Amino acid sequence: MTKADFNTDNYAEQSAYADRVKTLALKKYGKQPAACVVTFGCQQNVSDSERLKGMLVNMGYSLTDKEEEAQFIIFNTCAVREHAEDRVYGNVGATKALKRKNPDIIVAVCGCMAQRQSVADKIKQSYPYVDMVLGTQVQHRLPEFIYRRLSGSGRIFDLTLENGEIPEGVPIKRDGTFKGWLPIMYGCNNFCTYCIVPYVRGRERSRAPEQIINEAKQMIASGCKDITLLGQNVNSYGKGEEHGLNFSGLLRKINELDGDFRIRFMTSHPRDCTKELIDTVRDCEKVSSHLHLPFQSGSDRILKIMNRHYDRKRYLELVNYAKEQIPDLALTTDIIVGFPGETYEDFKETLSLVKEVEFSSLFTFIYSPREGTPAAAMDDPVSREEKGKWFSELLKVQEEIAEKNEPKLVGKTYRVLCDAVGSEDGYMSGRNSGTAVIEFPGEKDLLGSFVTVKTEEYSGVLKGKII
Ligand code: SAH
Ligand code: SF4
Ligand code: F3S
Repeated sequence: MTKADFNTDNYAEQSAYADRVKTLALKKYGKQPAACVVTFGCQQNVSDSERLKGMLVNMGYSLTDKEEEAQFIIFNTCAVREHAEDRVYGNVGATKALKRKNPDIIVAVCGCMAQRQSVADKIKQSYPYVDMVLGTQVQHRLPEFIYRRLSGSGRIFDLTLENGEIPEGVPIKRDGTFKGWLPIMYGCNNFCTYCIVPYVRGRERSRAPEQIINEAKQMIASGCKDITLLGQNVNSYGKGEEHGLNFSGLLRKINELDGDFRIRFMTSHPRDCTKELIDTVRDCEKVSSHLHLPFQSGSDRILKIMNRHYDRKRYLELVNYAKEQIPDLALTTDIIVGFPGETYEDFKETLSLVKEVEFSSLFTFIYSPREGTPAAAMDDPVSREEKGKWFSELLKVQEEIAEKNEPKLVGKTYRVLCDAVGSEDGYMSGRNSGTAVIEFPGEKDLLGSFVTVKTEEYSGVLKGKII
């Protein structure tokens, strides 16, 4: 790892532990140890895992995807829905056999699910082969924790959630070279009544502009062409900070950086999404024409109980303004089906909003009760089966919209970042400035470069030729 992989130098204390781990682990395992980082959940977690990997490399570990080859295994978990949690327990349980074979390996669980006291307690009791449980705000201290465990400490449970300063200078080992995640803030203050995130991620905290700009510069210098700025609610970036830079201002600053690259961001909360932001997206040539604007429900009654602080009218105003201002805008959203007390009448409001807006794609979820959130205590009379039917109805409506709109992308010219091989031999694939995926004849050496593609046909996949 080179010096350039560190974005500042306040990782110093952990860096000293990392050096000690390097020596200790080599002695313990008799060879260079390997680490396996298993990630669940959203892009925030993917980004956190890149920092976990960076620290592990810094501690002398090699990285592997195979748990059975690793001396250190860490599960970075998600708590947003029950299904996410079930998968984690299954995966963690499977390490029991590995640990029996080799008691010297270290198993860790971190991330949003680990932050919940009830989960930590369950692991303490029922998963004795898990060596450490780390909350979301202590993960940057991984070198210290591994050092302690390697030098014989007992099991470690640290769920400290102090909402203090954001740790900077943590080394990063990015998964990709030409597409990358850039966290601009952590936590959430919104407390939507169904959501666990504010409880497990803590209060909203923004990174300093210069930290973000420096990281963006490093990414660009190392060949990144598509930077996604991350935060639970990017529109409230910088609130209450002395620097006075808001999210639009930050976008403009990154847009001014030298280089040929694209800027994306997520997630925008409709309450804090402003015309200023939409104008900024319109004006900044590097900012992609994509807005992910979760509306959750089309019913004003449900939006109120969800504590979302906007209504259908305000949402439509925003969306219509964005459509007017940004040519070729790709709009995506999140929707929850079956919030407690939601009736079929309420759900029909969601359907009608989907029909009216015509999103490029939807991220749809059946409501999952999360212990400790207000919604989990609300009456929820509609059966899971009934909610499943509504859910299918929603998917069908969206399918029809996609079938109608996707062929309209034929005959257009797009700037595409080639980011994968295509589904057919001799084809490559890439994304336009929105969310459309386009396949075109080409060689692998195009990976990571921008090409101009004219779309020619649509048959489930959009195909075209480089011009
Ligand atoms: N901060 C983002 C969303 C983070 S969670 C925002 O506010 O838009 C991603 C999505 O998961 C949410 O938008 C919501 O649609 C869904 N979600 C959150 N909690 C959920 C729950 N308890 N049940 C079902 N879906 C949920
Ligand atoms: Fe959850 Fe709402 Fe915060 Fe998004 S804005 S993370 S849905 S509480
Ligand atoms: Fe993300 Fe899941 Fe945490 S959605 S913020 S990893 S609860």
